[in-house]
Amino acid sequence: MSSDRLIIFDTTLRDGEQSPGASMTKAEKVRIAKMLEMLKVDVIEAGFAIASPGDFASVKAVAETIKDSTICSLARAVDADIDRAGEALQGAASGRIHTFIATSPIHMKYKLQMQPDQVVERAIHAVKRARNLVGDVEFSLEDASRSEFEFMCRIIEAVIDAGASTINLPDTVGYGEPQEFGEMFGRLIASVPNAHKAIFSAHCHNDLGLAVANSLSAVRHGARQVECTINGLGERAGNASLEEIVMAIRTRKDIMGVETRIDATHIVPTSRLVASVTGFPVQPNKAIVGANAFAHESGIHQDGVLKHRETYEIMRAEDVGWHTNKLVLGKHSGRAAVKARFDALGVSFESQAALDEAFARFKLLADKKHEIFDEDLQALVLDARDDA
Ligand code: KIV
Ligand code: ZN
Repeated sequence: MSSDRLIIFDTTLRDGEQSPGASMTKAEKVRIAKMLEMLKVDVIEAGFAIASPGDFASVKAVAETIKDSTICSLARAVDADIDRAGEALQGAASGRIHTFIATSPIHMKYKLQMQPDQVVERAIHAVKRARNLVGDVEFSLEDASRSEFEFMCRIIEAVIDAGASTINLPDTVGYGEPQEFGEMFGRLIASVPNAHKAIFSAHCHNDLGLAVANSLSAVRHGARQVECTINGLGERAGNASLEEIVMAIRTRKDIMGVETRIDATHIVPTSRLVASVTGFPVQPNKAIVGANAFAHESGIHQDGVLKHRETYEIMRAEDVGWHTNKLVLGKHSGRAAVKARFDALGVSFESQAALDEAFARFKLLADKKHEIFDEDLQALVLDARDDA
């Protein structure tokens, strides 16, 4: 089922909410889900319906509100979980049950205390049960990146036969390395006889800071769904960040060869909403959505950007929802940026000497202040004129 369309599955409301301290109310989840729908996210994982009455109510409310994205609920490979997920999704225009069981030796032995054969049986049963409730079932092999290849082939083939149309391979503990993780997808897709009947999906955690790199590598090896969160929120060090994946796919279409349907102009407002609802601020140097992501301070960069934006910009700030890019005036700024700012403020100089004098005063001030604002520039010109 390979195509050039990449499905964006957002799990901010489920895995994102698993960030310690990031829990959200039903109303907050519905608000975020509406933004995700505007972003044109394909699948919104709204929660884990059996986890609590509140989570059930949230999944139900999101399912009843959102019409343009598929709404998904997580469920362990346990009857009660699957039934509860199905119940929460009844009002959805398009609903998906996402059921999972761990497949790595360490999880099967210590956590599940089950034999591999029992895990396969449980997975088949779960997928069949979910398929009786909804037409769209995703199956995850939890801890796939630490699972044995032959066992994964066996369970994937069985759950596709049982009716799963998406096979998700999570790097649950963020252990994967891009080359190895991508090749795992390529080998599985080539080895499982009925792989063409399903979409393969990557779900990466960021314990080693590799979640986005691992997801992109999976895409280059055949994954056609990526699971991610706004601002990279998620369990422990978080999940792959939606904004980074979407913009990497778009900016490097030349090598990625896939497209999403995301309307990126809603990225920054969605990031802000998630940050304010969860109380998790976005670091200034965070890619795409950090306050400095499109801000230039060095004189060389500012001069380049003023001559041609693409000298130092690979994306347009406006395309991801910023008002504009930003030339920050500070001690590294050069004459070109300072002059451009004076021009924008309508301040002109009668001679080159007067401009040189203003620039010298600017540099003195910049040594004392992190950032020079428009009011500082105006005051500086008035002081220069008073002193003249
Ligand atoms: O990280 C993980 O393995 C998960 C699964 C439940 C998909 O979040
Ligand atoms: Zn996860």
